[in-house]
Amino acid sequence: MVKIPEDVIEEIRSQVNIVDVVSQFVQLKQSGKNLFGLCPFHEERTPSFSVSEDKQIFHCFSCGRGGNVFKFLMELQNISFPEAVKKVAEMKNISVDDKYFRGSGNSQSAAENSQQKQLIDLHEQSVKLYNHILTNTKMGEPALNYLHKRGVTDDTIAVYQLGYAPAQRLLKPFFDERKVDFQLLRKSGLFSEDQDGNLRDRFVDRVMYPIRNGSGQTIAFSGRLLTTDSDMPKYLNSPETEIFNKRKVLFNLDLARPNIRSKDPAILFEGFMDVITAYQAGIKSGIASMGTSLTEQQIYDIKRITHEVVISYDGDTPGQKAIKRAIDAFNEQKSQIEMKIISIPGGMDPDEFIRNKGADDFKQLIIHAQAPIEFELSFLKKQYNLDSEVDQTNYIAEALKLISRVDSSISRDLYLNRLAQEFGVDKSLLQQQLAPLLARPNTQASEQQHAYHKPAQTVKQQKHYSLVEKAEMQLMNRMLHYHDIWLKVSNVSGFSFVDEQYQMLYLLAEGYFTKFDDYNVATFSNLISEDSLQSLLVDIDMLELPDNPTDAEIDSYLNILMHRAPVEEKLKKKRAELKQATKIGDVDKQRALTIEIVKLEQQKRMKQQV
Ligand code: CTP
Ligand code: MN
Repeated sequence: MVKIPEDVIEEIRSQVNIVDVVSQFVQLKQSGKNLFGLCPFHEERTPSFSVSEDKQIFHCFSCGRGGNVFKFLMELQNISFPEAVKKVAEMKNISVDDKYFRGSGNSQSAAENSQQKQLIDLHEQSVKLYNHILTNTKMGEPALNYLHKRGVTDDTIAVYQLGYAPAQRLLKPFFDERKVDFQLLRKSGLFSEDQDGNLRDRFVDRVMYPIRNGSGQTIAFSGRLLTTDSDMPKYLNSPETEIFNKRKVLFNLDLARPNIRSKDPAILFEGFMDVITAYQAGIKSGIASMGTSLTEQQIYDIKRITHEVVISYDGDTPGQKAIKRAIDAFNEQKSQIEMKIISIPGGMDPDEFIRNKGADDFKQLIIHAQAPIEFELSFLKKQYNLDSEVDQTNYIAEALKLISRVDSSISRDLYLNRLAQEFGVDKSLLQQQLAPLLARPNTQASEQQHAYHKPAQTVKQQKHYSLVEKAEMQLMNRMLHYHDIWLKVSNVSGFSFVDEQYQMLYLLAEGYFTKFDDYNVATFSNLISEDSLQSLLVDIDMLELPDNPTDAEIDSYLNILMHRAPVEEKLKKKRAELKQATKIGDVDKQRALTIEIVKLEQQKRMKQQV
């Protein structure tokens, strides 16, 4: 593959704002100079991930990851550097000579040729085949008629790449002809295995809905029967595979994400037909879990991109129960997501409602969505026979528990009033009963709230650096940002950094300055391929040092690195050896090492006095 020239890379990088890219995946809040959010690379409850718009880099002080926009996409989507460059170029509609990317598909790098990638590739090929059969063949006509009758347009079929798996099994011969490895086919979930170990197409005579992951890659299918009069299940999903875990997937997240980010709350549906019908009607921020209750992982993914979700489940009884479970799941996660609940009249599901009443009526439902407490109170009420006094008392006790979880004291008061009126009881009695319930859970909630808004610096665990490391870090920062200091230090004879990592950065920076006059951390970042060096560079750049360094400051770093460091390094080594000797009980060695350490410490003190 032809290497992409540095100026092309830099041209692409400089045209995109890292904040715009990161914002598509992480909800960011301004705090001081930087923007903060929950790190997309690991689970966390308080934000340690920051993006600097000035510097065009991201940094997480919890996991240590950092870098420029390319690095962000590489980490997030598990893609190579050229692929990340290509992605950014596409975002900005910058055309780049194809020759730079041509090889990236079949190069032998481990990540690129991984099994996962091959499995995804099988799925993408199947999507094309099934879609072709649906839209272009006689075999596909009944399925196409079914979709049209459901009101699904050809545009929607194209957007969601819907397809048809005909009664005649085609997929296996299709892949056999292409000599695809048997074991790979076995692991794909696209086939079922008979007793003799033969593979047969899993999906037969079904409308095929590709299931895509958050990056838009197809990782599974759901197939629906054209008619539901058989004993077969209406929907058949791919089994769990290396690339598909239905507990982790949110249907349509890839298409909904930009819309959720920019203006709309996420709309959570039960079924993917609801999502598709809503999308077709112009409501493009819908997502759905795959026929299961919401999982921790799914809530986490939602929380990362928005703080508002509208739950829009079926209007029937199972749907109402599912809403209750979803509210509980969000509450359990202390997700601080603002929930709204839509009630669909007439036991319809959102898909039926939108088709019957239209998008505008559905938007009205969104506008008039209830707070969770409203839903929970009326849901609760349905479980009691309120003609009975015992049931009334029990209902009131349970209702107070729900009310106690409402954050705002004004809202709580309103619900108390309502309850008092409804049952003709004294409000002060209700208040008395509510008081002990208020004490605990709400303080927890407010602490959580507080932690979230705290500027991350104060939550930050300061890493502990040795004197030498600190000097290396600060000196490197100064050298990169002030070219006169760079020139001064690189002319000191015999100068080198103590740590290999810093020495590497120093050499790379030398290369950088032969091509660029001004220092820019995001640009320099393009030249660094090793992860640990990338994050080290970001750490160095995030240091907050006063402007205008003095000669004395630089001299003190040099003094530490050139005179004290070797002693310091030896000491470190001897101390480690001593620890080892103590562990294995080698007394002679312990004694010898202790004497050496004392001597080294003396040397160190003397040097400090010089
Ligand atoms: N589901 C499933 N297996 C079934 C039935 C349902 O996996 N046998 C999942 C599907 O993911 C579906 C969701 O549960 O999207 C909701 O089910 P349902 O409400 O029955 O689906 P609808 O969207 O109403 O489907 P349709 O309108 O096509 O009948
Ligand atoms: Mn339906």
